[in-house]
Amino acid sequence: MSTLAVVGAQWGDEGKGKVVDVLAAEADLVARFAGGNNAGHTLVVDGVKIVTHLVPSGCTYPGTRCLLGAGMVIDPEVFAEEIAQLRTHGLLAGDELRVSLDAHVIFEFHRELDALREDASTAQTIGTTRRGIGPAYEAKAARRGIRIRDLLRPDRLRERLEHNKRALEPEFARFGSERSVSVDALCEAAARWVEWIGPMTCDAGAEVLEFIGAGKSVLFEGAQGALLDVDHGTYPYVTSSSTIAGGVCTGLGIGPTLIDGVWGITKAYTTRVGAGPFPTKLDGERGDQIRAAGGEYGATTGRPRDCGWLDLPALRLAARRNGLTGLVVTKLDVLAQLPAIEICTRYQDDLDPGRDGFDDAVPVYEPVAGWGGPNWGEQVSNARSLEQLPAGVRAYLDLVSDYVEVPVTLVSVGPGREQTIRLTAAF
Ligand code: IMP
Repeated sequence: MSTLAVVGAQWGDEGKGKVVDVLAAEADLVARFAGGNNAGHTLVVDGVKIVTHLVPSGCTYPGTRCLLGAGMVIDPEVFAEEIAQLRTHGLLAGDELRVSLDAHVIFEFHRELDALREDASTAQTIGTTRRGIGPAYEAKAARRGIRIRDLLRPDRLRERLEHNKRALEPEFARFGSERSVSVDALCEAAARWVEWIGPMTCDAGAEVLEFIGAGKSVLFEGAQGALLDVDHGTYPYVTSSSTIAGGVCTGLGIGPTLIDGVWGITKAYTTRVGAGPFPTKLDGERGDQIRAAGGEYGATTGRPRDCGWLDLPALRLAARRNGLTGLVVTKLDVLAQLPAIEICTRYQDDLDPGRDGFDDAVPVYEPVAGWGGPNWGEQVSNARSLEQLPAGVRAYLDLVSDYVEVPVTLVSVGPGREQTIRLTAAF
C-alpha cells in the first residue's frame, strides 16, 4: 500500500492531528483535501503542544512535503501566522509547503459575513467556527470564488473582487451592516500574499501523481468528520465541504483507484461542537465528567464540546460512507477513567440514520459488561500493546469493530506520539 486516507468518522475532533502526526513519520507527502482553518489539529511533539489549522500535520517532520489541496479554502492571513508560529518551533525550515492553484481564498468579508449570520437570531444558526468557511464555499459554488491562481493575475483579481463586492454589499446591508468591500485594499493585501504564496503554488493532482509514480508514500489528511460532510452529514448542521474519503478525489484532483486504504478515526466516546443532532449527548454530570476527563474544548474556538457515549449506528454509517478499511480508536485512556460506561447499539423503532436521518434518533444503550477497574486510566495510558490493555477494554474494542465490520488498526491511549498501539502497517 502506498497511499492512505485518514478521515474523521464522527463530528470532527476525533484526534486526527495526533494520528496523522504519528503516521506521517512514514509518509513522504501529506495532503489535505478539504476544509480550512475551521479545523484545529493538536500535535504534541516532545511535550510541546502545537495546534495547526491549515498546514497538514506532516509538518513536524522536516523534509516531508505538505500539500494544501484544491478542495480547501485558505485564509492567507491565518496561513501566514501559522507558518510563522511553526517556524518558531524550528519546523517548515525548508520548502516543504505546496498550495494548489485551485484552492479558494478566504477574505475578511467572508469572515465577517459568517459572524453576522451567526449573530443574527435566525432558525438557521449553525454554530460555525466563524472563520468564513461557509461564505467562501458558497462563493465557489456560485462561481464567484477567488482562487489562489487569481491572486497571481492582478487584473483578474480586481475584476473578481468587484463581482464579489456587487454580490455581497447588499447582503451586508440586509443584516444592517454598512460594510463595504474595499477592492483597492484587498488588491494591495493580495500583492503582499503573492510574494510568499506564489513560490508554493502547484497543480495538486500532478504533485500527488508524481509522488505515487516515484513509489513514495502519500497520506491524505481529512479534516472535520463524516457527520459534518455537506452531502452525507447531519445537514444543514454541517460544514460546507466533502469531509469523507470521496473528497480526497475531488479535493486533490486524482482518481479513486489511487486510494489504497481508508482509516476512519473515532473517539472511544462521542463529542460534538456547534448546533445539530447528537443522539447520544449526555446532559448534566455524566457529560461534564467526560468533558473534564477528555479536556473537550474546541482547538479552534475554545468552545466546550458536548459529550456522550459511543454511537454505533452513526459510526457504522460513517464506515460505509467512507468505505473504511481500518478503524482508529482514540482517547481510550479517557474512557478508561470512568467507572462504568454505556454504548448505543441501535436507535428506537429501528430507525436507520442513513435512510431516516438523525433528527428523530432516540438511542438505546447497553451497559458495557466487565468495564472499569482501579487505575484503569493509568493502565491504559501506559499500554503499548493490546495485551497490556485490561481484558474489558480489549472486549470493548472487539465490540466496536465487530459492529461496524471494520478491523481496528491503531489505538491511541494518550496525546503523546508514544502513547499509540499500532496493529496494522499504514503503508
Ligand atoms: P464551519 O465549518 O465553520 O462552517 O462550521 C460548521 C459546523 O461544523 C459547526 O457545527 C462547527 O462547529 C463544525 N466544525 C467545523 N470544523 C470543525 C472541526 O474541526 N471540529 C469540530 N467541528 C467542526
